[in-house]
Amino acid sequence: MADSQVMSVLAADTPELDLAGHSFVVRGPSPLEGTVEVSGAKNSVLKLMAATLLAEGTYRIANVPRITDVGLMAELLRAIGCKVTLPGQDVGPKQDSGPKQDVGPNQDIGAVLIIEVPAEIEPVAPRGIVDQFRASIEVLGPMLARCGEAVVALPGGDDFGPRPIDMHLQGLAKLGVEAGTVDGYVHARARELRGGAIRLDFPSVGATENLLMAAVRAKGTTVIDNAAREPEVADLCEFLSKMGAQVSGSGSGTLTINGVDHVEALQPVDHSVVGDRIVAATYLAALGIATGEIVVTGVDLDHMAVLCGKLGNMGMEISAEGESIRARVSNRLSSAKFSTLPYPGVATDLKPLLVALLATADGVGSVTENLFAERFRYVDDLRLMGADIRIDSHHVVVEGKERLMAAKVKAPDIRAGAALVIAGLGAQGETTVSDAHHIARGYDDLAGKLNSLGADVSRS
Ligand code: UD1
Repeated sequence: MADSQVMSVLAADTPELDLAGHSFVVRGPSPLEGTVEVSGAKNSVLKLMAATLLAEGTYRIANVPRITDVGLMAELLRAIGCKVTLPGQDVGPKQDSGPKQDVGPNQDIGAVLIIEVPAEIEPVAPRGIVDQFRASIEVLGPMLARCGEAVVALPGGDDFGPRPIDMHLQGLAKLGVEAGTVDGYVHARARELRGGAIRLDFPSVGATENLLMAAVRAKGTTVIDNAAREPEVADLCEFLSKMGAQVSGSGSGTLTINGVDHVEALQPVDHSVVGDRIVAATYLAALGIATGEIVVTGVDLDHMAVLCGKLGNMGMEISAEGESIRARVSNRLSSAKFSTLPYPGVATDLKPLLVALLATADGVGSVTENLFAERFRYVDDLRLMGADIRIDSHHVVVEGKERLMAAKVKAPDIRAGAALVIAGLGAQGETTVSDAHHIARGYDDLAGKLNSLGADVSRS
């Protein structure tokens, strides 16, 4: 299904997603004030959706963001044989899905996704859908666990350099999977999945999750060393454990999975998605540029501790307030040096947002990228807005300006698009960010939420 088709399917129920070919128009500068609620994390919900393939039945996933990548994953699950009802769609009378579990404080029927997984699934993930987003590769592990075989097109996603899946395939080989790539498709098969010792060269989020989901049904024990520790991985561990999987070490660098023998040992569950720390950080970066005082709800400050420590050093006053984060910026922030690292370090996804923030901070700052070599595509657009940015290998050096200038710019991907929007909050005049559909892949109503904080952002 083409991107535009997915957009229109989703837009029928969620008009804010109807952004294909549209722009964000930001009129700055204006300080921010008020409370903004963050939805569940994109990088968690997509993996939870993939995990439902492990067992037949009806799943209810709450706190789901209204973003296009959720629609894409829904399309993929439908192609595999599932029935998926997106948040906001009329689901008719509720059906019984066995013992009900608490889905947490964010339960809101408007944001509940329902997935009905049939007794038989088709373990084929077609190219037309898969090549549009990276997380699609996450169906590989669950399909192997459920069917012993899978055919999955190589994934797409944001274009910031090569994104191989060698660690996924090497890890699966340790579980007895034979895989090869033919004509852009991974063909994988395992006569019997068996537990194994896997040491990842790098704590890859996607590889950890795929291996974890395959290991759930492997015979014996699997240990994944140097596993990713991101809160979204921990959310997946919690989801799988609720289903009946035997996973320990969640949130640490070593995951131990005792495979369950029978598919009946796994049950469908209800779950509420962990809050999106990247989206929360976007609002904090916006505040750093625009100044003011905001409360961000729906996210755990502990998941953003390193970032918030750095923002505090720059002059942002940040405190935990119950389940929310209160942040205040009275004066222009001082500059700082950031380095992107696997969790608990500063997330690579934040890089464009931090560069935008440094573009208006006082002094010279930098962001060193340690994960994705080519994540620099928004820099020319920030320069159009008057930012003083120099790229030196994998470092971006930024000399802050008191005020940026409005310009016509283009969103190259999700986070860089959001970075250009928040840069517009610190620019004099009207900034137009075109290709807004990239932003809709990962942000649930960014314009509306910024406006609720007093910004002036419209769509054209
Ligand atoms: C996920 C996130 C993405 C985030 C990234 C790092 C989703 C949908 N996306 O992406 O937003 O930026 O984590 O936090 O959750 N690598 C290999 N071989 C592999 C796998 C990865 O070399 O088999 C490399 C990648 O090229 C990259 C690094 O490992 O340099 C990290 O990638 P990884 O953690 O796997 O990112 P994703 O899961 O793709």
